[in-house]
Amino acid sequence: MLKLGILISGRGSNLMALHQHIQTGGLKAQICIVISNNADAPGLAWAQKQGLNAMAVLRPDFSSKAEYEHKLLELLKQNHVELVVLAGYMAILGKPFIQAFRNRIINIHPSLLPAFRGLHPQRQALAAGVKVSGLTVHFVDEGVDTGPIILQQIVPVLDGDTEETLSERILKEEHTCYAQAIEMFAKKTALGADERT
Ligand code: GRF
Repeated sequence: MLKLGILISGRGSNLMALHQHIQTGGLKAQICIVISNNADAPGLAWAQKQGLNAMAVLRPDFSSKAEYEHKLLELLKQNHVELVVLAGYMAILGKPFIQAFRNRIINIHPSLLPAFRGLHPQRQALAAGVKVSGLTVHFVDEGVDTGPIILQQIVPVLDGDTEETLSERILKEEHTCYAQAIEMFAKKTALGADERT
């Protein structure tokens, strides 16, 4: 059973969806630890209520980013995590962290990468006037939203869409696609940077 460590910062709807897929047997994985970098994240309170091993680890409690990430690595390793899942984790991971889990960190981004990297991709999509957008699940490398792509899903942009309506339509797809991508990783059909030819 693939052991997951999930990093969050906020609402946690992807975490909830993954938990649901696991509970119903659709995803053969185990959530070993949930870490939030925000003590007030609704997703953290929810995870604790479910009885998941969930905790806040806050950057300001550490004197440097390196020490903070060292603590994260320690917790992930203590919990035998095999795949780090970023689910709305709003911080950029440093090189030592990425190297420690090379090709074993994944992220979900609500655009069809490489389009609309960074913050507010749905707003960027609307501003660009594209007729389709979507989501991307990818491995995390040292860049921002640049790692090898595992899976993408197209979502239409409809006339009259606002950032909220488009985000909602994409999020609905995220909730099934993230589990699919993890299943691909578990079956080793998702290849990281070092494994592609
Ligand atoms: C999602 O839209 C995800 O694609 C992006 O951040 C958002 C997190 O939402 N990376 P949630 O916290 O999982 O509800």
